[in-house]
Amino acid sequence: MRIIGTGSARPSKVVTNSMLENFLDTSDEWIVTRTGIHERRVISSENLEDLAATAARNAMENAGITAEQVDFIICSNVVNEYVTPGLGCIIQGMIGATCPTMDINCACTGFIYALDVAEAYLASKDLKNILIVCAEEPARMMNWHDRSSCILFGDAAGAVVVTKGDDLKAIRVSTHCKVEALYQKRKLQPTPFITKEEVDTEGVVMNGQDVFKLAVSSSIKDIDKVLTMAGMSADDIDLYVLHQANVRIIESIRHFVNQDKSKFPFNLDRYGNTSSASIPALLDDLSRDNKLKTGEMLLLSAFGAGFTTGACILRWSK
Ligand code: COA
Repeated sequence: MRIIGTGSARPSKVVTNSMLENFLDTSDEWIVTRTGIHERRVISSENLEDLAATAARNAMENAGITAEQVDFIICSNVVNEYVTPGLGCIIQGMIGATCPTMDINCACTGFIYALDVAEAYLASKDLKNILIVCAEEPARMMNWHDRSSCILFGDAAGAVVVTKGDDLKAIRVSTHCKVEALYQKRKLQPTPFITKEEVDTEGVVMNGQDVFKLAVSSSIKDIDKVLTMAGMSADDIDLYVLHQANVRIIESIRHFVNQDKSKFPFNLDRYGNTSSASIPALLDDLSRDNKLKTGEMLLLSAFGAGFTTGACILRWSK
């Protein structure tokens, strides 16, 4: 595959750390030191589908294609206000596309999984352009009284258009069932027949330290594997575009690959963790700021609830 267009969209509401101090026992100093996050964007009046459609339109415009030229849409999403239909169906209608759509829920790793599916579809089907839209509102999943989790997340949408090409040098996705590290349960509609007790966790339940360790160890393993698959060394990578969860996670991974800080672009200081939207939105920021050069090798790595993980090596040729 080859990425030929990128796009992103973020909510207008900026929530700074000091705004959180108004209702949480926390401080800007604690949050910045432990996470690197200064502020995040949180949905207030927008609908997630509006952000998703804007990111999709930006990516199509950047790729120089129209909605009629999109042959397939993959939407990565954990929650939105619709239980059904999938968000991809709604995006299809909003942008005026007519192709089939498919939603995946692979948490923060969704973009890497979507690239993996796109690569397989491009290789096996008569498709030209696939639109990947990662649209997430994790802020709406949090318990805003839980200071250890709500401070981490923000809402966003990121999109790319991919077509046939040979820029993908290696890709790997995996899942290790570790539900208890990071999950949310909700009560479904009661029926006259339900006899079991059901749980509503009223937000995400997260063991931060376990997630931290799983994130670093799985990302290190994935990076090692994709480098081996591509026959490359850590030095051959120009930029490590990592899931934007915590600057300390990025630093731990950086120490493992022993590469310069300048190779690890980040925007989590302004946006927090936006789940699967984080990597495509960061790619869009980098591309629009002319920070990606043709021929550069990018290593993408993500991890999230599941525990799902994934990484790939991609030549940038836009
Ligand atoms: N403000 C102030 N204090 C806070 C706080 C906050 N926002 N959140 C937690 N604390 C407190 C804790 O209550 C604890 O207090 P105690 O020692 O009195 O019990 C203390 O800070 C240390 O908590 P701890 O959990 O050990 O902190 P930490 O250094 O592990 O940082 C995270 C917590 C959540 C920032 C960190 O574990 C993390 O980033 N984990 C990964 C989470 C993640 O990325 N999830 C998404 C993956 S896709």
